[in-house]
Amino acid sequence: MKSRRMFFPRKSKFEIGPIRQDALADCVAIHGKAFHRGWDENEFSDLLSDASVLSFAAFSPNTGHVVGFILSRRALDEAEILTLAVDARARGAGIGYALLQKQIEGLSMQGVTNVFLEVDERNKAALALYARAGFLNVGKRVGYYPSQGSLPASALVLRRRSGKGVG
Ligand SMILES: CC(C)(COP(=O)(O)OP(=O)(O)OC[C@H]1O[C@@H](n2cnc3c(N)ncnc32)[C@H](O)[C@@H]1OP(=O)(O)O)[C@@H](O)C(=O)NCCC(=O)NCCS
Repeated sequence: MKSRRMFFPRKSKFEIGPIRQDALADCVAIHGKAFHRGWDENEFSDLLSDASVLSFAAFSPNTGHVVGFILSRRALDEAEILTLAVDARARGAGIGYALLQKQIEGLSMQGVTNVFLEVDERNKAALALYARAGFLNVGKRVGYYPSQGSLPASALVLRRRSGKGVG
């Protein structure tokens, strides 16, 4: 069976830190390949300048380029994960999980007690990741994602109570 681990073996190091302005082009490229509707640099920039938005990126220690990122928006003691994506070549190396863990820790420190997100019910990798990180299914938005040539897919609404460690 072909391994999910591409050029980043499980033990390889990557650095996690804030998304810098000079990293936006990498984020746009990864986002555009990961999702049906990509975000441009202005959209990223607007979100990053919003005080209620928390974001982290994972950087390759070899190239300094972004290999994954996560953004969430907080409202009082709740937050929503807005996006999470890992470069397709770097998946399966623990980067998505590490970003999610860092985000939940950061939100917890800001007083967030419930983290929500929406995920396409067909997205097996993301569903497995979120289940492993302690998210539970609390709702469903039927026909939320339009898809060409087939019926629209539903979004599952997941919630994780923060304050507990991810793993
Ligand atoms: C979902 C995504 C962020 C996962 O990132 P990743 O860095 O590959 O995930 P990790 O290596 O940290 O995996 C952590 C856990 O998630 C689960 N998982 C991740 N990818 C998986 C896959 N393809 N199949 C099954 N389980 C998977 C596993 O439980 C894994 O733990 P394990 O390797 O110990 O079994 C990545 O696949 C991605 O960017 N997808 C496209 C964008 C997307 O769908 N984002 C989520 C939108 S809600």
